Amino acid sequence: MAKITREEAKNRIEDLTSKLNEANRNYYILNSPTISDFEFDILLQELQALERMYPKLALPDSPTRKVGSDLETTAKEFVQYQHRYPMLSLGNTYDMDEMYSFHSKIAGAVSQPFSYSAELKFDGVGICLTYRNGILVRALTRGDGRIGDDVTRNIRTIKAIPSELTGGNWPVEFEIRGEIFMPYAAFDRLNEEREDCGYALFANPRNAAAGSLKTLDPETVKERGLDCILYHMLGENLPFKTHDEMMRAAAEWGLPVSKYSKICNGIEEVMSYIRLWETERKKLPFPTDGVVIKVNELALRTQLGYTAKIPRWATAFKFKPEQACTRLYSVDYQVGRTGAITPVANLDPVQLSGTMVKRATLHNADQMELLDIHINDYVYVEKGGEIIPKITGVDLDKRSPGAEKPLFPKNCPDCGTPLVRDEDEAAWYCPNDDCPTQIKLGFVHFASRKAMNILAGDATIEQLFNKGYIKELPDIYDITMEQLLTLDGWKDASAERFLKSIASSRKAPFHAVLFALGIRHIGENTAKVLAKRFKNIDALASASEDELDGMDDIGPILAKSITSYFADKRHVEQINRLKADGLNFIETEEMKLGEELAGKSVVVTGNFSVPREEIKRQIVLHGGKNTSSLSGTTEYLVAGTKPGPEKIRKAEKWGIKTISEEDFYELTNGKH
Ligand code: IVH
Repeated sequence: MAKITREEAKNRIEDLTSKLNEANRNYYILNSPTISDFEFDILLQELQALERMYPKLALPDSPTRKVGSDLETTAKEFVQYQHRYPMLSLGNTYDMDEMYSFHSKIAGAVSQPFSYSAELKFDGVGICLTYRNGILVRALTRGDGRIGDDVTRNIRTIKAIPSELTGGNWPVEFEIRGEIFMPYAAFDRLNEEREDCGYALFANPRNAAAGSLKTLDPETVKERGLDCILYHMLGENLPFKTHDEMMRAAAEWGLPVSKYSKICNGIEEVMSYIRLWETERKKLPFPTDGVVIKVNELALRTQLGYTAKIPRWATAFKFKPEQACTRLYSVDYQVGRTGAITPVANLDPVQLSGTMVKRATLHNADQMELLDIHINDYVYVEKGGEIIPKITGVDLDKRSPGAEKPLFPKNCPDCGTPLVRDEDEAAWYCPNDDCPTQIKLGFVHFASRKAMNILAGDATIEQLFNKGYIKELPDIYDITMEQLLTLDGWKDASAERFLKSIASSRKAPFHAVLFALGIRHIGENTAKVLAKRFKNIDALASASEDELDGMDDIGPILAKSITSYFADKRHVEQINRLKADGLNFIETEEMKLGEELAGKSVVVTGNFSVPREEIKRQIVLHGGKNTSSLSGTTEYLVAGTKPGPEKIRKAEKWGIKTISEEDFYELTNGKH
């Protein structure tokens, strides 16, 4: 570190302490990080170096002295308990050389041969589970490392975590710690749903996992598709000599442990493991942000011990997030289906995680303000959850003099209507029901797979709209063969296919129709909840705002959106036309094809001659229940080509019948 005076160090220490404490608060409590992990770690290293140089200047609330805390500081919604063993953090580095130094230190301190368990570093939130007599009795978050929030009710909804252990021979009481994370597929689903509903998106799967774990409604947690991997066991007099033995035993008891860990003899094997997973991890369906190495021999762990904050026997090598710095040359404002305006940055094209990024989202006006973004700024782009590029920061040093802030528009960029913003929402909206972009996107939504499932892409809808054939949703049911044949490139066959898909869309169940209407804030799941509760559209239309707001899963925003939708005469007229077109406005039980699988739980793995979703649908149509992971109550594992090896192994071990796609059809009497 360059020479620095005591006065300069004092200022910098104060500055870094407050910046890092603020970042910790945004990360752990608000689940809304303002700086990247990488940036945080770099600033923390700088602070550590300064504090080493001037120990007396270190502040009492220095982030170098404590682990970040996820404890709610405002409303105490969860009961809090003290951890039996403090839940410490891990040392970490981005530098391979430091991995060698870590190894040298350990090798210098112990006199016998030892090995490492090299593991993936799962990017989620830490959890500590206590099992007593084979039963899950408590789940605590890390909290401040000393005291954690009791989230047992939420944890019980996570399929991967058994409430009861299988096998036998478990210690009467033990703790097992690990990570709750959100696989990318569940993250995408959740954010899509939130986007449909106009809610703020989660920045990445880790925040989504943390936010989900801290919701007060276990049903919501259940729907979020969280997963778990456990990687550290603690207890009194546990009968194990190595970490590896411990994890194998945990797996025997039905606990979810990682199948990607490797026992490494020597640091070179660790390095190969790191190099392998630096690229391979991109193929995994869940987020990881590094590799953790731990001394495998438990006696040596005791010998090496802990500092105040971290174990001396383990450390993490973190992968740098793929980030690029490029110039922002303009901001576009896009109108969404519900009228929400999203600012989108146009960038100097830049290579990021294998793709060329030209545009990135800025989310909303608040986010632009928070980033303090200016035109021509050099901005940092990351892939949010490594999928959607987003702008995470600005390089202020490179700001050109006189750079101007982009002006968030006051009027809709499409129809010019003045934008409005509800107090409690992040987005600005175009309130005009006749806004052409909103109408077109409304049709795209209406036709989408989870709504009416009509074979109409954006281009078809654009043409139908531009030719004046569709102005309001019900018009889609009046489209004629003659009209379709006037579209560019359309022939009899394509027109017939289209009309056929319109005809079969009439069979869509009520909840899909309700979702298709595109009422603001009604996503796919909310539509299901409402359909189940109200059973038909008339009952829903006559519900009062208070009545709706008083319901469990319906907040004031949704209640207001529903009542104002039905208060609009045009919407009521549209619904009447759609009723006349034969659409389903009454919830009916889904047709059953048979009862062959009644009460049986079936798991599906691998690829089939039909989409896997179809096999799952067949299970339900034949009375069965489809679950994603094997458990003691699973009846069949339907295995296609390339089945999950873990599932096959488990099924064999637990004596669950594994059947082929053909066997499945035979079992369901070929009724598919
Ligand atoms: S071991 C005392 N193993 O990373 C050692 N931690 O940044 C206990 N993490 O606090 C932790 N994957 O929440 C361990 N395979 C793994 C991990 C892992 C993710 C998390 C954990 C820890 C944090 C440190």
